Formats: sequence, structure tokens, C-alpha cells
Amino acid sequence: MTDAAAIRDRLKNLPTPTLKELFDADPQRLSALTGRIGWGEGQTAGSILFDWSKTHLDEVHLGAFEELADAMDFAGRRDVLLTGGIANPTEGRAAQHTAERGIGSDAAVEEADALHQRMKLLVGAIRAGELGEVKHLIHIGIGGSALGPACALAMLARDIDAPLIDVHVVSNIDGCALEDAMHGCDPKTTMIAVASKTFTTTETMTNATSALDWLRENGVADPYGRVVALTASPEKAVEWGVDETRVLPFSETVGGRYSLWSSIGFPVAIALGWDEFEAVLAGAQAVDIHFRDTDARANLPLRAAFADQLYTRLRGCQTRAVFAYDERLKLFPDYLQQLEMESNGKLVTMDGKPVDGPTAPITWGGVGTDAQHAVFQLLHQGTVTVPVDFIASIAPGDALPDEHHRILLTNCFAQGAALMAGKGSDDPARSYPGNRPSATILCDDMDAATLGALIAFHEHRTFCNAVLMGINPFDQFGVELGKQIAKEIESGKGEGFDPSTEALLEAAGLK
Ligand code: F6P
Repeated sequence: MTDAAAIRDRLKNLPTPTLKELFDADPQRLSALTGRIGWGEGQTAGSILFDWSKTHLDEVHLGAFEELADAMDFAGRRDVLLTGGIANPTEGRAAQHTAERGIGSDAAVEEADALHQRMKLLVGAIRAGELGEVKHLIHIGIGGSALGPACALAMLARDIDAPLIDVHVVSNIDGCALEDAMHGCDPKTTMIAVASKTFTTTETMTNATSALDWLRENGVADPYGRVVALTASPEKAVEWGVDETRVLPFSETVGGRYSLWSSIGFPVAIALGWDEFEAVLAGAQAVDIHFRDTDARANLPLRAAFADQLYTRLRGCQTRAVFAYDERLKLFPDYLQQLEMESNGKLVTMDGKPVDGPTAPITWGGVGTDAQHAVFQLLHQGTVTVPVDFIASIAPGDALPDEHHRILLTNCFAQGAALMAGKGSDDPARSYPGNRPSATILCDDMDAATLGALIAFHEHRTFCNAVLMGINPFDQFGVELGKQIAKEIESGKGEGFDPSTEALLEAAGLK
């Protein structure tokens, strides 16, 4: 048995006191299981408090998980990640998203800086009207090329009273998505951003072609003159027809779901201005520095991964839920879904062997308080345990009477308390078992730096989970087969599918 397998075995056989028993047994529990990451001068410009005290982690778990991190070479793999080594061995490349935030090898940071400068110039020129009047931007991309900008804009754009340029993010190949965006835009003043790392993704290229046709049909003589390309394949963008001066490249070593920080963040900078985009990067950098410089015991992304491993691997929880008690974070659970499930939904370890337990849980969630009135019944009384993360901001985002935010926050904290405490009753239908875990992520405010910090925290948490399971979080071969079959069907070359698929194609008139 390897060291790691022996530690996992030991972890599996630890006693399982209830949350109440854990609190009763350790008066220091709260301070031992909370931590804070801050940023700005003296780390006072903003911060996030993380509280895992309502999870079943205790000193014994922390010690054993630390040993596991050691056995899985956490420090070595972190070093490879942050210094531009081959963090993604199946594709033979580095994973240099942190270099976009100034943390990485000198060469990668220098390259990212130069590309940011190029992006800043173009953003400045467009916002200053130097490329003609631009009132709308349709950002076309999918997956990592859309979710980051969409999530950031949902969170930050409401603070702007009269946006200089209004941005629509379109991802789905379903024409309804692009049509909806077109309805909100005047073609004469619309710019199109085509965001694709590979510049080959069917949905994006089809939507981009239709958007250009729409410009043309509405009197724009040179529709390609209205296109900006955001890509790691600049030569493909130029070949497709985008003028080289409007191609904003990013490094091949930045993964799609890790790419908000690169030129994929263009719509954020266009809508909110360069300073806001830089603030997002700065918040992320604060977390990178904490992650890089803090040893295992106090490393908060690693701590979060310990809790994830406890529930997924040791207690068999198949899902984890994230509830943002903040309307501005409504797309954050979707963002985390791609980040975590596309990164860690894997069957094999780094060396290609079958993984010896469950990997990524299903990440799901929503917005509080809405979700309380829809899905929380299962969290409180369902037969499965779902570890929950609550995310909230101390400062309100609205200017309505204080009671809105007060009720929002009290509900958030009440849910965590209720999940933990439960309540007995003579009537089984009215009884709550309690002892259900949750963690709380409490932000000072929900601003650009906080967004950057929250996303970077979850990137590193995802990486730490991968390290503890011995898997590669940076490839995603699982998405390819479905794409390939769709292409075969589309090109008319697909033959001999199963009877069900053949009948569906027939019924829909596709054969
Ligand atoms: O199909 C999965 C995926 O490759 C994601 O990883 C990626 O974010 C998305 O498709 C879009 O890819 P691209 O940016 O190359 O268009």
C-alpha cells in the first residue's frame, strides 16, 4: 500500500463525532477552522473570511490530510504550477493562468504583461470612439470563453449607471441566444468579440458567422472591420478574416476555464473600464500570493480541498452545493460547475491508472434566498448529505432600506445554523436530523477585487483537490467524443449509430 493509500485508509476509519460534539470538545474550534485572505496595503482594502467550523474537519483530520498533501507532493506540484513547469502532462504543457495575475515564471509574466498592454490600448481606443461609434458589444464564446465574462459582468455591471458600451454574452448555438442579443443592439453601433482559445469551436464560429451576416444585412459594409478576436490561435483568427490589429492573443498555456484573466476578459474591460479589470486581477493575485507562500496547515485553498475530500472521498457525498446570498453572484455556481467538473471529473490518475475512488462531486447551487424556497427541503430532510458553501457580502449591493440586506444575511447564517443544529420532534415528518455540514465564505464587499479573489481561490481549491487525488485538472478529453459524433452526423458521414439515435435523427428529419 502506498503512503497515500494508507493515510486515506486511516482517514476513513477516524471516529465521526457530530458537529455539536466537535464544538463542545474544542473551545478553540472556531479560530482553528477559520481564516482570512486580504488585499491592498496592509491587506486592509478588502478581505474574505472563510469558516469551515461547521464541517466535520477537526485537528485529527487536518493532521492526516496534511500528511496526505505531503505524500501527494503538494508543495512540488504547486511549484510546478507556479513556475511554468509541465502541470498538464497529458497535453505536455504548463498551466500559466496565474502569470496573467503577475505570479509565475519571469518569461510568462512578461508575456502576459505585454499582451495586457496590447489589450489595454485596444480597449482604450474603442472606449474613446477611435474605431467609430460603439454602443454595443456582442461577446461570442462558449464554456470558459463565456462563463467568466458573463459571471463578472453580472456581478460588476450593475454598479455602472449608464454603461458606455452595453455587453451581451452569447454562447449557445441555439439561435434564440444570438437573436435575443441582436434584438438588444443597433447593428450600426455594434462590435462583435469572437472569443475562442482554439478558434475552431463549432458553436462560436457558427454564431460569429451569423452575427457578421446580420451586420452585413443591416448595412454595415465591412463587418469584419467590427470584429475583435480573443484567442490563443491568432493565426486562425487572421485566416478567418479578423484584422491583425484587432486580434488579442493569449498564451496557449492558459486553459479555457482559467482564461478570464487573459484577453477573454476583454468584455469586462470594455464595459467597466481598464481599472476595474485590473482590480479583478489584483484580487486574484492576493490569493495567488497566499496560496504560494503559505504552508499546508494555514493554506486556505488546501483547507477547502480537505473539506471537499472529507465529504466526497470519505463520506461518499456525490454532490456539493454553492449558494450565493447575493444576486450579483447568480452565475457564480455555473462558473464553479465548469471549473470543478471539467477539471476534476476524471477516471484516471496522472500516470494513467484508474483512480481509486470518486473524483469531482457534482457542483450545483443557486442564489439565496430564492433557493431556500425551492431546494433546501432536500438539504434539511433529504436522505443524502450535501456539503454546502454559503457565500455572502457584509456590505450591501443595493441602496434600498437596510432591512433587505439584513434579512438576506440573517437567512444565510440561519440556514447554516439550522443544518447543523437540526431539531427533534415527536412527528418524524417535522424532525430535522441536523449534523449537516456547511462552510461560509463571507466577503467584506462584492467588488472587482473580491470577484478576482473568489475565482482564484476556487481555481486553487480545484487544483488542491486534484493533487490530493493524484489527477490532472488541466485536460478535458471527455468532452471530445460527443463533439466528434455531432460533426459526423452534421457532415452526413455518420453511419450505423445505435437504433435509438438513428430513430431520433429520423424523427427530427436529420437523416
Ligand atoms: O468543450 C470544452 C471546451 O474545450 C472548454 O474547455 C472550453 O472552455 C470551451 O470548450 C470553448 O473552447 P474554445 O475557447 O476553444 O472555443
